[in-house]
Amino acid sequence: MKMKKLFAGLLACAMMASLAACNGNTESTSGDLPEIGVCIYKYDDNFMTYTRQAMETAAEGKAVLNMNDSANDQAKQNDQVDTLINKGVKALVINLVDPEAAPTIAEKAKAANIPLVFINKEYPDGTDKIDYDNCVYVGTRSEESGIIQGELIASAWEANKADWDKNGDGKIQYVMLKGEEGHPDAEARTTYSISTLNDKGIETIELGLQSATWDSALANNLMETWLGKFGDEIEMVIANNDGMAMGAIEALKVAGYFGDDGKYMPVFGVDALPEALDLINAGEMAGTVLNDPLGQGGAAVDLAVNYANGKEVLADTDWTLDDTKAVRVPYVGITLDNMDVAKTAYGLN
Ligand code: BGC
Ligand code: CA
Repeated sequence: MKMKKLFAGLLACAMMASLAACNGNTESTSGDLPEIGVCIYKYDDNFMTYTRQAMETAAEGKAVLNMNDSANDQAKQNDQVDTLINKGVKALVINLVDPEAAPTIAEKAKAANIPLVFINKEYPDGTDKIDYDNCVYVGTRSEESGIIQGELIASAWEANKADWDKNGDGKIQYVMLKGEEGHPDAEARTTYSISTLNDKGIETIELGLQSATWDSALANNLMETWLGKFGDEIEMVIANNDGMAMGAIEALKVAGYFGDDGKYMPVFGVDALPEALDLINAGEMAGTVLNDPLGQGGAAVDLAVNYANGKEVLADTDWTLDDTKAVRVPYVGITLDNMDVAKTAYGLN
């Protein structure tokens, strides 16, 4: 009896035009919108969470996004890409776990003839070196964030040297919280923030430099260790992103900074997360660099939708591709004076 019922059910299903209606796949109710497969290197990343939300918003009425958390595991992401390809998505948007895996993912997409947009983690050799025509990158110019952060630090240092140069030697004794090793943004920010300062004639002394892989909690631990080791010798904290800057600020508070007795430490980040803007407002963060999630998320969706609809990748957009097949959304230095720019880019205005 049971079998009979099941069989009847299956038959009814088979008779319906769409099999999807039988397996409860809600995406089939989205009309004619193309499905785009998306993999995010890990959901547990402050900045990528904002970018992911920006993509969802940008896709409304244009595409259905099939979103996947690659959980910081490249092998897992490779499997997710295989599944999305088998499912027949019309385009892929991939935030790599390992930037070096770009050619492997591109090979899969090419074999299935599915166009591909990489975001946020750029193939270090350049997207133009990947053997697939229908493949572009949407992100930023990594050096730019380091240069802007360096310029921001330089002008703040000049203005506050009397207070900030605690040992009076004219040099900045700093600790550097680096992002993920091998990530183009982390490498460039670490190098260019300091070289920009030095090019302007500001001397620097590195007390500590270590990767906290973009992560607040790890940065908090590192800062605690550095405070234990160097104490008041530290004159500045430079972080490759706001998430790590925020972790450092927590450790600094525990050590008595930003309290009533006026003990202060300049901390600089990158991203201009809404949480970081609050800290700048509170005088607990000195500056950051806007990494625009609406801009990058929006561009990624626009290009993927064009691909999915068989159009020229830049059709009806204002974006351009550089000679490495990359769309580069500009960074902007952010201090107390221009926080509105960052609020708009995070959809807060
Ligand atoms: C952001 C970081 C983020 C990383 C993820 C960078 O561009 O500044 O906050 O963790 O991308 O890949
Ligand atoms: Ca000094």
